Amino acid sequence: MSVKIAVYFYSMYGHNYKMAKAAAEGIKEAGGEAELLRVPETLAPEVLKAMGAEEAQKAFAGEKPAKHDEFGNYDGYLFSFPTRFGVVPAQFKAFLDATGQTWANGGLTNKPLGIMTSSAMQHGGQEATILGLIPFVLHHGALYVGLPLSSGVLGGTDEVSGNSFYGASTIAGPDGSRQPSANELAGAKAQGKRVAELAAKLKA
Ligand SMILES: Cc1cc2nc3c(=O)[nH]c(=O)nc-3n(C[C@H](O)[C@H](O)[C@H](O)COP(=O)(O)O)c2cc1C
Repeated sequence: MSVKIAVYFYSMYGHNYKMAKAAAEGIKEAGGEAELLRVPETLAPEVLKAMGAEEAQKAFAGEKPAKHDEFGNYDGYLFSFPTRFGVVPAQFKAFLDATGQTWANGGLTNKPLGIMTSSAMQHGGQEATILGLIPFVLHHGALYVGLPLSSGVLGGTDEVSGNSFYGASTIAGPDGSRQPSANELAGAKAQGKRVAELAAKLKA
């Protein structure tokens, strides 16, 4: 059963873009079609410049912008966004807050949805960030897909790593210079693959 999976990402410095691309690899490995969708920035260019994000954003500025009228058109969903004080960034929330039409039409009902995230600090609020958006998932009737133990990316203690039962994640470091590790990218890939596999089963 062929499925089309949307990977909605918002990123300031590129970490969540890399996680989104890794999730897309997992979707394709499961035989699904992956579509990367960039959730629009709401900050002014001068603010982004002051935050040192201008250069990093060039890497994903060309990705397809997310559109509300296409939100319900997919068989499964991945969201990827950084933490902002332990909760979803306003940019991503602004996009979600305009999905009322899709909600009314049941566009996400009975479809699998996974959330990925990132933080500067190892204990900077990754799990809280994902959990904070679970009401949105439930209100839309979607089925939350995290990372099970069998994903093989959760058990290690020999290196600093994101990823939890709640979803794939990466640690950007205090200055944002740390990039997603092999284990963190494997988590994103596994979550993408799981969403695609479940979407195919649900669609069959
Ligand atoms: C306003 C703001 C709030 C943030 N809050 C946190 C936080 O609570 N904990 C943390 O570890 N990192 C925090 N960060 C760091 C971001 O999570 C980090 O820059 C991001 O994960 C990098 O991902 P990206 O490259 O995809 O934007 C914050 C950053 C900003 C700009």
